[in-house]
Amino acid sequence: MANDGGARMRDRILVTGGGGVVGGAIVRALLAQGHTVRSFSRGDHRWLRELGVETVRGDVADLAAVESAAAGCDAVVHAAAKADITVDPAPFITTNVVGTANVIAACRRRDVGRLVFTSTPSVVHDGRPIEGADESLPYATRFEAAYPATKARAEQLVLAANDDDLATVALRPHLVWGPGDEQLTGRIIARARAGRLRLVDHGHAVVDATYIDDAAAAHLLALTALASAAGRRAVGGGALFIASGHPLPIATLINGVLGAAGLPAERRSVPFPVAHAAGVLCEALWRATRRRTEPPMTRVLARQLATSHWFDLTAARRDLGYRPSVAPDDGFERLAAALRGR
Ligand SMILES: NC(=O)c1ccc[n+]([C@@H]2O[C@H](COP(=O)([O-])OP(=O)(O)OC[C@H]3O[C@@H](n4cnc5c(N)ncnc54)[C@H](OP(=O)(O)O)[C@@H]3O)[C@@H](O)[C@H]2O)c1
Repeated sequence: MANDGGARMRDRILVTGGGGVVGGAIVRALLAQGHTVRSFSRGDHRWLRELGVETVRGDVADLAAVESAAAGCDAVVHAAAKADITVDPAPFITTNVVGTANVIAACRRRDVGRLVFTSTPSVVHDGRPIEGADESLPYATRFEAAYPATKARAEQLVLAANDDDLATVALRPHLVWGPGDEQLTGRIIARARAGRLRLVDHGHAVVDATYIDDAAAAHLLALTALASAAGRRAVGGGALFIASGHPLPIATLINGVLGAAGLPAERRSVPFPVAHAAGVLCEALWRATRRRTEPPMTRVLARQLATSHWFDLTAARRDLGYRPSVAPDDGFERLAAALRGR
């Protein structure tokens, strides 16, 4: 770990999935703080090199490749994951579970002292409403999709790995959105443009989403926390919810994004049983025909759109000093400016 005069740490950090939405925001935030960043992922992300990031191509399922990417790094942020809603579980297991085990093994073999894992609140979501729960909420015992199931397994591996040689923490940013995000933001806009967007149960379910910059800032705070003995005692081996601290009806979030894109608000709604049945049908059809694309609806998506889920951020505020800085209205303005710029 390099230290420029004692005032501020400058580290060499490996970000897996640095070319993705969340990983990319983490990379930019690390660079802004003067860290040296290496990104590891399968694709060629030229824009990362243009920012001065060292890019290494490889698959997290390949231990030798991950180990070589981790060489010489002070810390790893493991953000790479298969994070979509496709229905074949095999690639989720390979990337999310085997890949995470490889990242842990690579840290140990290359004497990397800190590992921050990008997890998700989906690991505790069993389909029932969650309103203001904290990290004492247990993992869900059954999952309706491979993504949350494999992220839960991966998170457990990361937390169990925490020891004197490797300090680990998992962050669970909820519904990350903002410019560049295609999963939530881009999907809302694309579906609205195609005339295929509907609210579920009128969008009354309350959620607390995370603006992309706050998600990135939380990762930097976690890296800093793991660098001190006190921080390791506070957060090592634990998981922390991350969000904006502004729970709001999901219709407000969706229509705020549409407004930022210059699109009219969506009022059309389908009842949850209809959305869920569509999810059951789509998943069965996609499985039977071995389609690799994302179905338009899944059981999990239907539940996410119809069920309140927001979390108590006390632990992240107390143990990381996390202060979400982008409230939803501010985020809508920033998104609008970014979309206009594009
Ligand atoms: N977006 C959200 O709302 C949200 C919420 C909570 C948690 N998260 C977590 O945040 C992380 C990033 O998600 P995201 O939304 O930013 O997804 P994303 O844009 O799809 O980014 C995922 C990144 O992982 C890389 N990747 C995927 N499979 C890989 C493999 N087998 N080997 C190496 N790299 C691989 C991809 O790059 P290549 O394709 O080039 O390999 C991509 O850069 C994930 O861990 C996800 O679980 C996201």
